[in-house]
Amino acid sequence: MNILILGSGGREHAFAWKIAQSKWCDKLFVAPGNAGTASVATNVNMQVSDFAAIEKFCLENKIEMVLPAGEESLVKGIYDYFLNNKLLKHIPVIGPSMNGAQMEGSKAFAKAFMLRHNIPTAAYKEITQQNFEEGKKYLLNSPLPIVLKADGLAAGKGVLICTSHEEAMDELSQMIQSAKFGDASSKVVIEQFLKGIELSVFVLTDGKNYLLLPNAKDYKRIGEGDTGLNTGGMGAISPVPFATKELMQKVEEKIIRPTIEGLQKDKIVYKGFIYFGLINVAGEPFVIEYNCRMGDPETEAVLPRIENDLIGLFKAVADEKLAEQTLHESPKVACTVVLASGGYPNEFEKGFEIEIAELKTDTIVFHAGTKFNEQNKMVTAGGRVMMVTALDDNLKRALNKAMAAVSGIAFQKKYYRKDIGLDVC
Ligand code: AMP
Ligand code: GLY
Repeated sequence: MNILILGSGGREHAFAWKIAQSKWCDKLFVAPGNAGTASVATNVNMQVSDFAAIEKFCLENKIEMVLPAGEESLVKGIYDYFLNNKLLKHIPVIGPSMNGAQMEGSKAFAKAFMLRHNIPTAAYKEITQQNFEEGKKYLLNSPLPIVLKADGLAAGKGVLICTSHEEAMDELSQMIQSAKFGDASSKVVIEQFLKGIELSVFVLTDGKNYLLLPNAKDYKRIGEGDTGLNTGGMGAISPVPFATKELMQKVEEKIIRPTIEGLQKDKIVYKGFIYFGLINVAGEPFVIEYNCRMGDPETEAVLPRIENDLIGLFKAVADEKLAEQTLHESPKVACTVVLASGGYPNEFEKGFEIEIAELKTDTIVFHAGTKFNEQNKMVTAGGRVMMVTALDDNLKRALNKAMAAVSGIAFQKKYYRKDIGLDVC
Protein backbone atom coordinates (compact mmCIF):
# COMPACT_ATOMS: atom_id res chain seq x y z
CA MET A 1 0.00 0.00 0.00
CA ASN A 2 1.03 3.58 -0.58
CA ILE A 3 0.41 5.58 2.58
CA LEU A 4 0.32 9.32 3.33
CA ILE A 5 0.88 10.75 6.82
CA LEU A 6 -0.10 14.39 7.43
CA GLY A 7 1.97 16.46 9.86
CA SER A 8 5.51 17.40 10.75
CA GLY A 9 6.31 16.75 14.42
CA GLY A 10 7.88 14.03 16.55
CA ARG A 11 4.57 12.19 16.58
CA GLU A 12 4.59 12.07 12.79
CA HIS A 13 8.17 10.79 12.72
CA ALA A 14 7.18 8.07 15.21
CA PHE A 15 4.24 7.06 13.01
CA ALA A 16 6.46 7.05 9.91
CA TRP A 17 9.10 4.96 11.72
CA LYS A 18 6.48 2.41 12.80
CA ILE A 19 4.55 2.31 9.51
CA ALA A 20 7.76 1.92 7.48
CA GLN A 21 8.19 -1.44 9.29
CA SER A 22 4.76 -2.69 8.17
CA LYS A 23 4.60 -5.58 5.73
CA TRP A 24 1.74 -3.74 4.00
CA CYS A 25 3.71 -0.56 3.38
CA ASP A 26 5.07 0.07 -0.12
CA LYS A 27 5.62 3.79 -0.56
CA LEU A 28 5.37 6.05 2.46
CA PHE A 29 4.95 9.83 2.24
CA VAL A 30 4.84 12.50 4.96
CA ALA A 31 3.45 15.99 4.29
CA PRO A 32 5.15 18.27 5.12
CA GLY A 33 7.43 16.09 7.35
CA ASN A 34 10.84 17.01 8.79
CA ALA A 35 14.49 15.95 8.46
CA GLY A 36 13.74 12.76 10.44
CA THR A 37 10.74 11.62 8.40
CA ALA A 38 12.93 12.04 5.30
CA SER A 39 15.04 9.11 6.52
CA VAL A 40 12.13 6.63 6.51
CA ALA A 41 9.70 8.18 4.01
CA THR A 42 9.45 10.75 1.23
CA ASN A 43 8.57 14.26 2.37
CA VAL A 44 5.98 16.15 0.36
CA ASN A 45 5.84 19.93 0.44
CA MET A 46 2.13 20.25 1.13
CA GLN A 47 0.17 21.79 4.01
CA VAL A 48 -2.16 19.55 6.05
CA SER A 49 -5.18 21.79 5.44
CA ASP A 50 -4.69 22.13 1.68
CA PHE A 51 -7.27 19.47 0.79
CA ALA A 52 -7.18 20.21 -2.95
CA ALA A 53 -3.40 19.61 -3.05
CA ILE A 54 -3.80 16.46 -0.93
CA GLU A 55 -6.50 15.17 -3.31
CA LYS A 56 -4.28 15.73 -6.35
CA PHE A 57 -1.30 14.09 -4.64
CA CYS A 58 -3.32 11.03 -3.55
CA LEU A 59 -4.63 10.46 -7.05
CA GLU A 60 -1.27 10.95 -8.77
CA ASN A 61 0.57 8.69 -6.31
CA LYS A 62 -2.10 6.00 -5.89
CA ILE A 63 -2.35 6.57 -2.13
CA GLU A 64 -4.39 3.85 -0.43
CA MET A 65 -4.50 5.14 3.16
CA VAL A 66 -4.21 8.55 4.83
CA LEU A 67 -3.26 9.16 8.46
CA PRO A 68 -3.91 12.74 9.60
CA ALA A 69 -1.67 12.64 12.68
CA GLY A 70 -2.72 16.01 14.11
CA GLU A 71 -6.09 17.61 14.81
CA GLU A 72 -6.02 20.45 12.28
CA SER A 73 -7.08 18.60 9.14
CA LEU A 74 -9.50 16.39 11.10
CA VAL A 75 -11.30 19.36 12.65
CA LYS A 76 -11.43 20.95 9.17
CA GLY A 77 -13.15 17.82 7.85
CA ILE A 78 -10.62 15.78 5.88
CA TYR A 79 -12.53 12.55 6.64
CA ASP A 80 -15.74 13.91 5.07
CA TYR A 81 -13.80 15.48 2.18
CA PHE A 82 -12.55 12.02 1.17
CA LEU A 83 -15.87 10.28 1.82
CA ASN A 84 -17.86 12.75 -0.28
CA ASN A 85 -15.51 12.67 -3.27
CA LYS A 86 -16.12 9.82 -5.68
CA LEU A 87 -12.46 9.64 -6.70
CA LEU A 88 -11.25 9.50 -3.09
CA LYS A 89 -13.89 7.65 -1.15
CA HIS A 90 -12.17 4.25 -1.49
CA ILE A 91 -9.15 5.66 0.43
CA PRO A 92 -9.54 5.15 4.20
CA VAL A 93 -8.75 8.17 6.34
CA ILE A 94 -7.74 6.99 9.81
CA GLY A 95 -9.54 9.51 11.99
CA PRO A 96 -12.98 10.77 12.97
CA SER A 97 -15.51 12.59 10.79
CA MET A 98 -15.66 16.37 11.15
CA ASN A 99 -18.46 15.91 13.67
CA GLY A 100 -16.39 13.39 15.67
CA ALA A 101 -13.39 15.73 15.65
CA GLN A 102 -15.56 18.24 17.54
CA MET A 103 -14.73 16.15 20.60
CA GLU A 104 -11.45 18.07 20.45
CA GLY A 105 -12.47 21.05 18.32
CA SER A 106 -15.14 22.28 20.76
CA LYS A 107 -14.80 21.97 24.52
CA ALA A 108 -18.54 22.74 24.88
CA PHE A 109 -19.39 19.91 22.46
CA ALA A 110 -17.23 17.50 24.48
CA LYS A 111 -18.73 18.61 27.82
CA ALA A 112 -22.30 18.24 26.52
CA PHE A 113 -21.37 14.79 25.18
CA MET A 114 -20.02 13.72 28.58
CA LEU A 115 -23.04 15.09 30.42
CA ARG A 116 -25.42 13.31 28.00
CA HIS A 117 -23.64 9.98 28.42
CA ASN A 118 -22.92 10.22 32.11
CA ILE A 119 -19.13 10.25 31.75
CA PRO A 120 -17.27 11.60 34.82
CA THR A 121 -15.91 15.10 34.24
CA ALA A 122 -15.67 18.40 36.15
CA ALA A 123 -18.89 20.40 36.67
CA TYR A 124 -19.14 23.27 34.17
CA LYS A 125 -21.08 26.11 32.61
CA GLU A 126 -21.04 27.31 29.01
CA ILE A 127 -20.82 31.08 28.56
CA THR A 128 -21.19 33.32 25.48
CA GLN A 129 -21.93 37.03 24.97
CA GLN A 130 -25.64 36.20 25.47
CA ASN A 131 -25.28 34.95 29.06
CA PHE A 132 -22.13 36.86 30.01
CA GLU A 133 -23.69 38.36 33.18
CA GLU A 134 -24.72 34.89 34.30
CA GLY A 135 -21.13 33.79 33.73
CA LYS A 136 -19.81 36.52 36.03
CA LYS A 137 -22.25 35.47 38.73
CA TYR A 138 -21.29 31.81 38.31
CA LEU A 139 -17.61 32.74 38.68
CA LEU A 140 -18.23 34.76 41.85
CA ASN A 141 -19.98 31.80 43.43
CA SER A 142 -17.35 29.25 42.38
CA PRO A 143 -14.62 27.93 44.66
CA LEU A 144 -11.01 28.68 43.68
CA PRO A 145 -9.02 27.90 41.67
CA ILE A 146 -11.41 27.94 38.72
CA VAL A 147 -10.68 26.87 35.13
CA LEU A 148 -11.61 28.88 32.00
CA LYS A 149 -11.40 27.17 28.63
CA ALA A 150 -11.76 28.74 25.20
CA ASP A 151 -14.25 26.56 23.34
CA GLY A 152 -12.27 26.24 20.11
CA LEU A 153 -8.72 25.28 19.18
CA ALA A 154 -6.24 27.81 20.58
CA ALA A 155 -2.84 26.19 19.91
CA GLY A 156 -2.79 24.66 23.39
CA LYS A 157 -3.03 28.09 25.06
CA GLY A 158 -6.79 28.34 25.61
CA VAL A 159 -6.94 26.92 29.15
CA LEU A 160 -6.52 29.31 32.09
CA ILE A 161 -6.41 28.30 35.73
CA CYS A 162 -7.38 31.36 37.77
CA THR A 163 -6.58 31.70 41.46
CA SER A 164 -8.69 34.79 42.26
CA HIS A 165 -12.22 35.86 41.33
CA GLU A 166 -10.90 39.19 39.96
CA GLU A 167 -8.49 37.38 37.66
CA ALA A 168 -11.23 35.00 36.51
CA MET A 169 -13.69 37.86 35.79
CA ASP A 170 -11.01 39.80 33.92
CA GLU A 171 -10.03 36.76 31.82
CA LEU A 172 -13.64 35.89 31.04
CA SER A 173 -14.24 39.38 29.76
CA GLN A 174 -11.01 39.34 27.71
CA MET A 175 -11.95 36.01 26.19
CA ILE A 176 -15.55 36.81 25.32
CA GLN A 177 -15.62 40.57 24.87
CA SER A 178 -12.10 41.21 23.54
CA ALA A 179 -11.63 37.94 21.60
CA LYS A 180 -8.44 37.03 23.51
CA PHE A 181 -8.20 33.80 21.50
CA GLY A 182 -10.09 35.10 18.46
CA ASP A 183 -13.20 33.16 17.48
CA ALA A 184 -12.06 30.24 19.66
CA SER A 185 -13.04 32.17 22.81
CA SER A 186 -16.40 33.58 21.68
CA LYS A 187 -17.68 30.69 23.78
CA VAL A 188 -16.03 29.76 27.09
CA VAL A 189 -16.39 26.71 29.31
CA ILE A 190 -16.04 27.55 33.01
CA GLU A 191 -15.01 24.41 34.81
CA GLN A 192 -14.47 23.21 38.35
CA PHE A 193 -10.79 22.63 39.18
CA LEU A 194 -9.92 18.97 39.82
CA LYS A 195 -6.95 18.09 41.99
CA GLY A 196 -5.13 14.90 41.10
CA ILE A 197 -2.53 13.34 38.86
CA GLU A 198 -2.98 13.26 35.09
CA LEU A 199 -2.56 10.41 32.65
CA SER A 200 -3.13 9.92 28.95
CA VAL A 201 -5.14 6.92 27.76
CA PHE A 202 -5.53 6.06 24.08
CA VAL A 203 -7.79 3.82 22.08
CA LEU A 204 -8.01 2.96 18.42
CA THR A 205 -11.64 2.45 17.39
CA ASP A 206 -13.54 1.35 14.28
CA GLY A 207 -16.66 3.05 15.66
CA LYS A 208 -17.97 -0.10 17.35
CA ASN A 209 -15.02 -1.84 18.95
CA TYR A 210 -11.81 -0.50 20.34
CA LEU A 211 -8.30 -1.56 21.24
CA LEU A 212 -6.82 -0.10 24.39
CA LEU A 213 -3.31 1.14 23.57
CA PRO A 214 -0.44 1.50 26.06
CA ASN A 215 -1.06 4.41 28.43
CA ALA A 216 1.33 7.28 29.03
CA LYS A 217 2.05 10.33 31.15
CA ASP A 218 3.34 13.52 29.63
CA TYR A 219 5.37 16.26 31.28
CA LYS A 220 3.91 19.55 30.11
CA ARG A 221 5.90 22.16 32.04
CA ILE A 222 9.21 23.55 30.82
CA GLY A 223 11.04 23.23 34.15
CA GLU A 224 12.15 20.32 36.28
CA GLY A 225 9.79 19.37 39.10
CA ASP A 226 6.86 20.46 36.87
CA THR A 227 7.57 24.17 37.18
CA GLY A 228 7.39 27.12 34.78
CA LEU A 229 5.42 27.63 31.60
CA ASN A 230 3.26 25.07 29.84
CA THR A 231 4.73 23.61 26.64
CA GLY A 232 3.66 21.17 23.96
CA GLY A 233 5.24 18.52 26.21
CA MET A 234 8.81 18.00 27.46
CA GLY A 235 8.76 14.24 27.89
CA ALA A 236 6.64 11.16 28.37
CA ILE A 237 6.71 7.73 29.93
CA SER A 238 4.79 4.56 29.11
CA PRO A 239 3.30 2.68 30.89
CA VAL A 240 2.21 4.79 33.87
CA PRO A 241 3.05 3.04 37.18
CA PHE A 242 -0.06 4.34 38.98
CA ALA A 243 -2.38 3.18 36.19
CA THR A 244 -3.13 -0.02 38.08
CA LYS A 245 -5.43 -2.75 36.84
CA GLU A 246 -8.08 -1.45 39.19
CA LEU A 247 -7.84 2.13 37.93
CA MET A 248 -7.80 1.03 34.27
CA GLN A 249 -10.88 -1.13 34.85
CA LYS A 250 -12.70 1.96 36.10
CA VAL A 251 -11.40 3.93 33.12
CA GLU A 252 -12.79 1.35 30.70
CA GLU A 253 -16.09 0.92 32.51
CA LYS A 254 -16.87 4.55 33.32
CA ILE A 255 -15.15 6.39 30.50
CA ILE A 256 -14.05 4.40 27.45
CA ARG A 257 -17.07 2.18 26.92
CA PRO A 258 -19.63 4.95 27.54
CA THR A 259 -17.67 7.12 25.09
CA ILE A 260 -17.71 4.54 22.29
CA GLU A 261 -21.39 3.76 22.97
CA GLY A 262 -22.17 7.48 23.14
CA LEU A 263 -20.60 8.04 19.72
CA GLN A 264 -22.77 5.25 18.32
CA LYS A 265 -25.95 6.52 19.99
CA ASP A 266 -25.29 10.02 18.69
CA LYS A 267 -24.51 8.62 15.21
CA ILE A 268 -21.08 10.23 15.22
CA VAL A 269 -18.80 8.53 12.67
CA TYR A 270 -15.45 7.82 14.32
CA LYS A 271 -12.74 5.53 12.94
CA GLY A 272 -9.46 6.48 14.48
CA PHE A 273 -7.66 7.36 17.69
CA ILE A 274 -9.30 8.79 20.79
CA TYR A 275 -7.00 10.39 23.33
CA PHE A 276 -8.52 10.60 26.80
CA GLY A 277 -6.80 13.26 28.90
CA LEU A 278 -7.65 11.96 32.37
CA ILE A 279 -7.09 12.99 35.93
CA ASN A 280 -7.03 10.53 38.82
CA VAL A 281 -8.79 12.14 41.78
CA ALA A 282 -8.33 9.92 44.84
CA GLY A 283 -8.66 6.73 42.79
CA GLU A 284 -11.51 7.98 40.56
CA PRO A 285 -10.81 8.86 36.92
CA PHE A 286 -12.30 12.02 35.34
CA VAL A 287 -12.03 13.30 31.79
CA ILE A 288 -10.15 16.61 31.45
CA GLU A 289 -10.29 16.57 27.66
CA TYR A 290 -10.76 14.48 24.56
CA ASN A 291 -8.40 14.73 21.61
CA CYS A 292 -9.20 13.26 18.22
CA ARG A 293 -5.61 12.10 17.60
CA MET A 294 -2.62 10.67 19.41
CA GLY A 295 -0.59 12.85 21.80
CA ASP A 296 2.80 14.38 21.21
CA PRO A 297 5.24 13.38 22.82
CA GLU A 298 3.19 10.42 24.15
CA THR A 299 3.15 8.75 20.71
CA GLU A 300 6.95 8.60 20.77
CA ALA A 301 6.75 6.54 24.00
CA VAL A 302 3.67 4.49 23.07
CA LEU A 303 4.37 3.33 19.49
CA PRO A 304 7.73 1.66 20.26
CA ARG A 305 5.80 -0.45 22.82
CA ILE A 306 3.21 -1.69 20.31
CA GLU A 307 4.33 -4.95 18.75
CA ASN A 308 1.51 -5.23 16.19
CA ASP A 309 1.82 -4.25 12.55
CA LEU A 310 0.17 -0.81 12.73
CA ILE A 311 -1.18 -0.92 9.18
CA GLY A 312 -2.79 -4.29 9.98
CA LEU A 313 -4.66 -2.49 12.77
CA PHE A 314 -5.56 0.46 10.53
CA LYS A 315 -6.93 -1.91 7.88
CA ALA A 316 -9.10 -3.50 10.57
CA VAL A 317 -10.34 -0.02 11.54
CA ALA A 318 -11.26 0.78 7.96
CA ASP A 319 -13.03 -2.60 7.51
CA GLU A 320 -14.75 -2.36 10.93
CA LYS A 321 -13.07 -5.59 11.97
CA LEU A 322 -11.15 -4.40 14.99
CA ALA A 323 -12.93 -6.99 17.15
CA GLU A 324 -10.73 -9.61 15.47
CA GLN A 325 -7.50 -7.91 16.58
CA THR A 326 -5.53 -8.14 19.83
CA LEU A 327 -3.06 -5.55 20.95
CA HIS A 328 0.43 -6.81 21.76
CA GLU A 329 2.12 -4.53 24.27
CA SER A 330 5.84 -4.82 24.94
CA PRO A 331 6.74 -5.46 28.59
CA LYS A 332 9.53 -2.88 28.24
CA VAL A 333 9.18 0.58 29.72
CA ALA A 334 9.65 3.65 27.54
CA CYS A 335 11.00 7.03 28.54
CA THR A 336 10.90 9.90 26.04
CA VAL A 337 12.92 13.07 26.60
CA VAL A 338 12.29 16.17 24.50
CA LEU A 339 15.25 18.27 23.37
CA ALA A 340 14.15 21.87 22.95
CA SER A 341 15.82 25.02 21.73
CA GLY A 342 16.73 27.32 24.66
CA GLY A 343 14.06 30.00 25.17
CA TYR A 344 11.14 27.73 24.17
CA PRO A 345 8.14 28.03 24.82
CA ASN A 346 8.89 31.76 24.47
CA GLU A 347 11.20 33.19 21.80
CA PHE A 348 13.96 30.91 20.55
CA GLU A 349 16.45 30.92 17.70
CA LYS A 350 16.54 28.49 14.77
CA GLY A 351 19.12 27.28 12.30
CA PHE A 352 21.69 25.68 14.65
CA GLU A 353 23.53 22.67 13.21
CA ILE A 354 22.70 19.31 14.83
CA GLU A 355 25.06 16.40 15.37
CA ILE A 356 23.91 12.99 16.57
CA ALA A 357 26.30 10.34 17.90
CA GLU A 358 25.71 6.68 17.13
CA LEU A 359 22.76 5.24 19.07
CA LYS A 360 22.69 2.19 21.34
CA THR A 361 20.09 -0.59 21.02
CA ASP A 362 16.59 0.29 22.19
CA THR A 363 17.23 4.00 21.73
CA ILE A 364 15.39 5.93 19.02
CA VAL A 365 15.63 9.56 18.01
CA PHE A 366 12.47 11.13 16.60
CA HIS A 367 12.77 14.51 14.94
CA ALA A 368 10.31 17.37 15.44
CA GLY A 369 11.66 20.84 14.55
CA THR A 370 14.50 19.88 12.21
CA LYS A 371 15.24 20.48 8.54
CA PHE A 372 18.07 20.41 6.02
CA ASN A 373 19.46 23.85 5.19
CA GLU A 374 20.75 25.03 1.81
CA GLN A 375 24.12 23.37 2.47
CA ASN A 376 22.22 20.13 3.19
CA LYS A 377 23.19 20.30 6.88
CA MET A 378 20.63 19.24 9.48
CA VAL A 379 19.59 22.28 11.53
CA THR A 380 17.08 23.21 14.23
CA ALA A 381 13.80 24.57 12.86
CA GLY A 382 11.42 24.68 15.83
CA GLY A 383 11.05 24.97 19.60
CA ARG A 384 10.85 21.24 20.25
CA VAL A 385 13.74 19.93 18.17
CA MET A 386 13.77 16.19 18.76
CA MET A 387 12.69 13.44 21.12
CA VAL A 388 14.82 10.58 22.40
CA THR A 389 12.98 7.41 23.38
CA ALA A 390 14.77 4.69 25.32
CA LEU A 391 13.32 1.31 26.27
CA ASP A 392 14.46 -0.81 29.19
CA ASP A 393 13.27 -3.14 31.94
CA ASN A 394 12.37 -0.34 34.32
CA LEU A 395 11.79 3.38 34.26
CA LYS A 396 15.01 4.38 35.98
CA ARG A 397 17.11 2.42 33.51
CA ALA A 398 15.07 3.76 30.58
CA LEU A 399 15.62 7.33 31.79
CA ASN A 400 19.38 6.74 32.23
CA LYS A 401 19.58 5.26 28.76
CA ALA A 402 17.67 8.22 27.30
CA MET A 403 20.04 10.61 29.11
CA ALA A 404 23.08 8.83 27.64
CA ALA A 405 21.63 9.29 24.15
CA VAL A 406 20.74 12.93 24.86
CA SER A 407 24.36 13.66 25.72
CA GLY A 408 25.32 12.36 22.28
CA ILE A 409 23.16 14.96 20.54
CA ALA A 410 24.70 18.39 20.12
CA PHE A 411 23.24 21.71 19.02
CA GLN A 412 23.60 25.22 20.41
CA LYS A 413 21.14 26.16 23.19
CA LYS A 414 20.04 22.54 23.70
CA TYR A 415 17.62 22.34 26.65
CA TYR A 416 15.92 19.29 28.20
CA ARG A 417 14.46 18.07 31.49
CA LYS A 418 16.48 15.48 33.39
CA ASP A 419 13.59 14.36 35.61
CA ILE A 420 11.16 12.68 33.17
CA GLY A 421 9.49 9.85 35.09
CA LEU A 422 11.41 10.41 38.33
CA ASP A 423 8.24 11.49 40.20
CA VAL A 424 6.69 8.05 39.66
CA CYS A 425 9.79 5.82 39.79
P1 AMP B 1 -6.19 21.09 28.04
O1 AMP B 1 -5.76 22.13 27.05
O2 AMP B 1 -7.66 20.84 28.09
O3 AMP B 1 -5.33 19.87 27.94
O4 AMP B 1 -5.81 21.66 29.48
C1 AMP B 1 -4.48 21.98 29.76
C2 AMP B 1 -4.14 21.57 31.16
O5 AMP B 1 -4.91 22.32 32.09
C3 AMP B 1 -4.47 20.12 31.49
O6 AMP B 1 -3.50 19.24 31.05
C4 AMP B 1 -4.56 20.20 32.99
O7 AMP B 1 -3.27 20.17 33.55
C5 AMP B 1 -5.16 21.54 33.23
N1 AMP B 1 -6.63 21.43 33.43
C6 AMP B 1 -7.58 21.50 32.50
N2 AMP B 1 -8.81 21.35 33.04
C7 AMP B 1 -8.62 21.18 34.37
C8 AMP B 1 -9.49 20.97 35.48
N3 AMP B 1 -10.81 20.93 35.34
N4 AMP B 1 -8.95 20.81 36.70
C9 AMP B 1 -7.60 20.87 36.85
N5 AMP B 1 -6.73 21.08 35.87
C10 AMP B 1 -7.22 21.23 34.62
N1 GLY C 1 0.81 15.86 24.90
C1 GLY C 1 -0.41 16.55 24.86
C2 GLY C 1 -1.07 16.58 23.55
O1 GLY C 1 -0.63 15.98 22.59
O2 GLY C 1 -2.10 17.23 23.44
